[in-house]
Amino acid sequence: MKILTVVGARPNFMKAAPIIAAINEHNERISANAADRRERPAGTIQHILVHTGQHYDDLMSGSFFNDLKLPKPDVHLGVGSGSHAVQTAEIMKKFEEVLLREKPDVVVVVGDVNSTLACGLVAAKIAFDSAGSRPLIVHVEAGLRSFDRSMPEEINRILTDHVSDLLFVTEESGLQNLRNEGVSPDRIHFVGNTMIDSLLAFKEKAEASTILEELGLRTQTGKNGAGNSISSYALLTLHRPTNVDNRDAFLNILAGLEELAMDSPIIFPAHPRTQRRIKEFGLEPHLGMNGTKNKGDARDSGNRRHGIILTDPLGYLDFLCLMKHATLVVTDSGGIQEETTCLGIPCVTVRENTERPVTVESGTNTIAGTKKESINDAIRRQTGRRTSGGVPKKWDGQAATRIVDILIRTQHTLST
Ligand code: UD1
Repeated sequence: MKILTVVGARPNFMKAAPIIAAINEHNERISANAADRRERPAGTIQHILVHTGQHYDDLMSGSFFNDLKLPKPDVHLGVGSGSHAVQTAEIMKKFEEVLLREKPDVVVVVGDVNSTLACGLVAAKIAFDSAGSRPLIVHVEAGLRSFDRSMPEEINRILTDHVSDLLFVTEESGLQNLRNEGVSPDRIHFVGNTMIDSLLAFKEKAEASTILEELGLRTQTGKNGAGNSISSYALLTLHRPTNVDNRDAFLNILAGLEELAMDSPIIFPAHPRTQRRIKEFGLEPHLGMNGTKNKGDARDSGNRRHGIILTDPLGYLDFLCLMKHATLVVTDSGGIQEETTCLGIPCVTVRENTERPVTVESGTNTIAGTKKESINDAIRRQTGRRTSGGVPKKWDGQAATRIVDILIRTQHTLST
């Protein structure tokens, strides 16, 4: 079986890495049992990794390949940034050539970014021969719905699900959403969450990150490293266009964070889009509260416990380390709602809705909306929250193994 996996943007890398690792484990098991070690044994999966280049620089892409031990992509489409239409179209044009050349049996797309939809759509309409044969299309993280079609990701989710043959679901709401949309139940599999597979695989390794020292958040209270203590801090990420592309909306969110910033430093690793808006809208003075510094090391802030500390986007392990030790996370990301749920860290989501309701029902997440008062209220409620939250069903580090097992079974059924 030949499987082609597509990655394109930052949130794809941690979702795809466990699937590639599970394929490698399967191949190692097969070759360990093979009589003749020189030949590729029957049942070996051939894997091809395609990077669309939707995210292209080291901070948004390269460092994740190192941290997650992802193999170098076999094919890089190098599409870069552009409007949604241009980016999607460029990926489609280039991906079609790759599909016609490689003729894989299976195309795996993950998540909800433009690369996910573009490649799913190409695979659905390709014809490898006059009989119209095409690869099996597999969507990992299927069925999530925010019911907000103004989000580009919601359009990507719905369309990708409806062109896919196999839908791998992370939480029970996904099962229900797909059934409500008339998707045949035999195409849907509740397997768990590959992003959580990565989190569990790298949670301990993240402790070796030096980010807490670099930001002045780990202090030595005793001699020879004895009595290390970690200061209390909150972690912030914002990148959704509706939150950061409008000056008033962005300022309103910063106002909602003011009280929290008086109490503890807020570490803010900012997405390139967000960094650009901060400069363009002249928001730097609004990041440091009480006249404290707004950039660099937490130790540098005039009063060391105040203000928002802006940093570049961080690598996977550094960010995971910061999430693990934060007292509170404030975010508009999708994946971070899930990661904080798994880590038992209180999370305030600065959005009007979530496509991941399990993080609110059984996790540590609360949906704050985007108004100053509601953000401030949610932060007060979540600060010091005692409950660790529950870990949702099947978020056990085995999702990718389940996916590969199902792919092998499906391939076997199709070929017999
Ligand atoms: C994309 C995804 C979003 C995901 C986010 C994570 C879609 C529709 N959106 O949004 O779901 O949560 O990624 O980051 O697919 N840029 C760089 N370096 C890069 C990549 C981007 O500087 O490596 C800058 C570019 O100036 C670009 C901007 O970031 O214009 C936005 O990138 P883009 O890929 O268009 O969308 P994101 O906002 O990152």
